[in-house]
Amino acid sequence: MAGKVIIFDTTLRDGEQAPGASMNTEEKIRIAQRLVRLNVDVIEAGFPIASPDDWSAVNAIARRVKGPVIAGLARANEKDINSAGKALKPARRRRIHTFIATSEIHLKYKLEMSREDVLAMAVKAVKRARRFTDDVEFSPEDAARTERDYLCRVVEAVIKAGAKTVNIPDTVGYSIPGEFGEIIAEVMNCVPNVDKAVISVHCHNDLGLATANSLAAVISGARQVECTINGMGERAGNASLEEVVMSLRTRRDLFKCTCGVKTAEIYKTSKLVSDITGWDIPRNKAVVGANAFAHEAGIHQHGMIKERTTYEIMTPQSVGWPESRLVLGKHSGRHAVKKRLEALGIKLNREDLNKAFERFKELADKKKEVFDEDLEVIAISEVRHRLRTYQLVYLHAVGGRRTVPTATVRLKVKGIEKQEAACGDGPVDAAYNAVDRISGIKPLLEEYKLKAITRGRDALGEVYVSVRIGNVRLIGRGSSTDIIEASLLAYLDAMNQYQAEGVNRGRKKRDSM
Ligand code: KIV
Ligand code: ZN
Repeated sequence: MAGKVIIFDTTLRDGEQAPGASMNTEEKIRIAQRLVRLNVDVIEAGFPIASPDDWSAVNAIARRVKGPVIAGLARANEKDINSAGKALKPARRRRIHTFIATSEIHLKYKLEMSREDVLAMAVKAVKRARRFTDDVEFSPEDAARTERDYLCRVVEAVIKAGAKTVNIPDTVGYSIPGEFGEIIAEVMNCVPNVDKAVISVHCHNDLGLATANSLAAVISGARQVECTINGMGERAGNASLEEVVMSLRTRRDLFKCTCGVKTAEIYKTSKLVSDITGWDIPRNKAVVGANAFAHEAGIHQHGMIKERTTYEIMTPQSVGWPESRLVLGKHSGRHAVKKRLEALGIKLNREDLNKAFERFKELADKKKEVFDEDLEVIAISEVRHRLRTYQLVYLHAVGGRRTVPTATVRLKVKGIEKQEAACGDGPVDAAYNAVDRISGIKPLLEEYKLKAITRGRDALGEVYVSVRIGNVRLIGRGSSTDIIEASLLAYLDAMNQYQAEGVNRGRKKRDSM
């Protein structure tokens, strides 16, 4: 079955539902703009009824992001659909994605409704959504565990009511490729009006099969795949966009389908999502992990030198990996650093470049080699720290066995230097306590992660923190070869964002699904 597979990206909706992955509106817009460059067909921008923030983010994306269809999620009721319809109104191409569960488990325990009532609600929802747009998608939630005849009846009825896309979700990641392919084949063969709609799939990764199930569905005739960057999503996540797209491309011989994604934009997109959400990409992650194109074994290296295709089924360039891992050191000049940053897709203004270059020089003095990852962290942190209320001036921290961990911190707060000393459970805790005394704010530290950016004892350490101030959750990052300093910079980064964004920004996690 030839044709085009529509790529529906739900990083901003299902991806954002991943615990600890919430983003603010500006961050969502940056990701949406990246998705435009990636050339996805549909961006699911959020679930407008879930919170006022979600509504505003969907509305802002509908206003500001041009190109792909902008979709918003709505349960199968009038209030949700009206809210989605309004949020999406400014979009030139908009889609309402409405859903209701159809499996026996959900009907019995969650909805407490009969099959006939659910079917009627689905039809009514699609008709309601059509008042706002011709482009309506319907999902029978938990379709993979839904009794097949009933599933086919629902699909037929919603197409008749005006759904242009019917999405078959494996909501709990329960299915396996052979079975899921069969479900799609049954829908394609048994629903009489199936040719009037695009059949889509949406697979979760609870058994690690989301990509495999999505691809099996494509073989059976599905022509839209819903996926997320880096496979982010509820629980174990969703089918990963980069895996689906690169499978379709690498095995075009088998799928005989194309998609419009500009694969050379994949790496930058994956990196941006990881930077914004603070979710690290595992080294061995297919397509975008640090080891995806690394060859260590002697036999493999030997094969690669003779003929790349012996051990590589796709080129790093095809997914936009920087071409070489050129090593910069203390003799490198500003021009070389600027060029390398540009090759990594980072353009800095003169002021940020000067600061990044200063930090590069400091680091190059401490380390023999400065890797691409170090440079990226330096450049990103310079931009993030430009508009800061709290600037670190001085830090002295003491830790060790049988000592009371203490820290003295001096900050410039809106231009005025303030100093405090404090004790803590360790030197990082002591430094955080000193900052709390200076700022008069006591953020709750919810998550702390420290990692080495590159190899070696002299590696740059990067700290990621997630803190909560009132009901506002903030993510901060800091880097330094000194891990106490990196920890403090991350904490200050989060507090600077709090100051920059104002305290009224609620980031309520949705509770409605
Ligand atoms: O996993 C799921 O079933 C969903 C639906 C809302 C499509 O995310
Ligand atoms: Zn989902």
